[in-house]
Amino acid sequence: MRYLTIALTKGRLAKTTLELFRKAGITSAGADSSDTRKLIFTNEEMGVRFFLAKGPDVPTYVAYGAADIGIVGRDTILEEGRKIYEVLDLGYGKCRMCICGPESAREALSSGDQFRVATKYPNIAKDYFLNRKHQTVEIIKMNGSIELAPIVGLSEVICDIVETGSTLRENGLVVLEEVCPISARVVVNQVSMKMLNARITDLISKLKEALDQNED
Ligand code: PRP
Repeated sequence: MRYLTIALTKGRLAKTTLELFRKAGITSAGADSSDTRKLIFTNEEMGVRFFLAKGPDVPTYVAYGAADIGIVGRDTILEEGRKIYEVLDLGYGKCRMCICGPESAREALSSGDQFRVATKYPNIAKDYFLNRKHQTVEIIKMNGSIELAPIVGLSEVICDIVETGSTLRENGLVVLEEVCPISARVVVNQVSMKMLNARITDLISKLKEALDQNED
């Protein structure tokens, strides 16, 4: 029997995801230890192996079939735009994709003049402004601490994730528009979904049961 391979997202989602997998009975010795450099973990009895990858790489592993299943944020799924099935909303990692800036930028947003948008998510920003709002904007791709951009005058607004809102507050910025809600999702390779349907369906129901346990 071949392994069912699962790609998990490193960072913010990792702890909750590993905890969910533990509750679902999908465990492997050492997987939740932070001092290991080991990349891939195997559960021989279940024929399952899993690994932790950078968020944007998870849809790539799944699209190419190097992983059958992935756990990743909806922001990353939308940004990467890979051909994969999104099958389950895990309900954690909740935040919002927003257009933010100083209150004074509200005018620029509705003026019809072109303005700049700094973001880690150029595809999401482009889709929002061009396709949904029919506005021409200049998108500047950045790699982190996006809130700096309007403060130092790189852009009028940013397109970024807001979770607690504290980064915005501490930097004198506000949410100007909401693009979409975000949370962690289960994604599946399109061929694996057909070829390994019973095993994948079984794994997804185990995850659902573990989620229900959380709610009790
Ligand atoms: C994210 C996001 C915001 C912040 C929002 O950044 O880009 O900066 O979290 O969270 P809050 O609303 O709870 O303050 P992250 O910490 O992932 O790192 P980055 O700044 O390097 O992108």
